[in-house]
Amino acid sequence: MDLGLKGKVAVVTGASKGIGLETARQLLQEGAKVAICSRTAADIQKAGEMLSQYGEVYYEAVDMSNEKAAYDFGAHVEERFGRIDCWVNNVGAQLTKGDDEEEYSDELLERIYGVCFKAAVFGCQAAFRAMKKCGGGSIVNISSLGGRCPTVGKATLYGPLKAATNMLTITMGGEYAAYNVRVNCVMPGYTMTEFNTEHTTEDNMKHICEGTIMQRAGRTEEVAKPIVFLCGNGSTFMTGVSIEVSGGRGLTLNPTYSFDERRRKGD
Ligand SMILES: NC(=O)c1ccc[n+]([C@@H]2O[C@H](COP(=O)([O-])OP(=O)(O)OC[C@H]3O[C@@H](n4cnc5c(N)ncnc54)[C@H](OP(=O)(O)O)[C@@H]3O)[C@@H](O)[C@H]2O)c1
Repeated sequence: MDLGLKGKVAVVTGASKGIGLETARQLLQEGAKVAICSRTAADIQKAGEMLSQYGEVYYEAVDMSNEKAAYDFGAHVEERFGRIDCWVNNVGAQLTKGDDEEEYSDELLERIYGVCFKAAVFGCQAAFRAMKKCGGGSIVNISSLGGRCPTVGKATLYGPLKAATNMLTITMGGEYAAYNVRVNCVMPGYTMTEFNTEHTTEDNMKHICEGTIMQRAGRTEEVAKPIVFLCGNGSTFMTGVSIEVSGGRGLTLNPTYSFDERRRKGD
């Protein structure tokens, strides 16, 4: 399918690694010009230089939870490429309490709120400023399966803020529709990013697979493809939608039973 992204301008926030980096790579392969950001200057430079082999890339060190920095970034992308057609709000992280902490401090709460929600709000608004000037566009928020199924444990606040991102998708979709700007969302399940590969023990992985209908973790390219689809013109009648990309994690109370039984029967 031709997604109509050739010559379009796409922004991916939080793209020095993981799902964001792979999304930027796929957008470039579809022929888009791509702007990326993350906070650590050396990392975003390395990512930008690597991605340049696939097409035209603009990169900048930006903290998307900072209002001024987020809007300045949008303005810099417009200066560089003249317009913005797609914007992926990928910034997010599971910031957790320390081992000996029982409660969230105000400082930690502000940090989580910034990374898991404010960055998406500023991203939507920066995108909208540019897109309404050029007749429309597509915004894709990245939330999490944790926004649908509670993340009980040390990442207590991650899920609620991702749920807020799902609802933000619907409300912004409603507000921007009159300007032909669509807003959709992808909710990844457990995905093998560099960080997860390094920090997941064998036991954890077994547990994750047992709770997933497809009995495995996702790959970044499998999560990036639906994001790119939502950016492109294969999804022009979709807005306000959150798509779960999780291999069926959390969809049934007994995934191991159904998977093993079918395999045993050879169906
Ligand atoms: N991987 C999973 O299993 C999984 C599952 C569900 C949902 N998700 C969601 O998918 C998205 C991507 O996750 P990932 O696992 O690919 O993440 P990752 O590998 O940890 O990468 C996160 C990226 O965001 C950047 N970043 C973090 N805070 C930022 C900020 N305030 N401003 C700008 N950039 C910032 C990071 O670079 P700096 O630190 O240098 O800024 C990095 O480039 C997130 O929204 C995450 O919540 C991931």
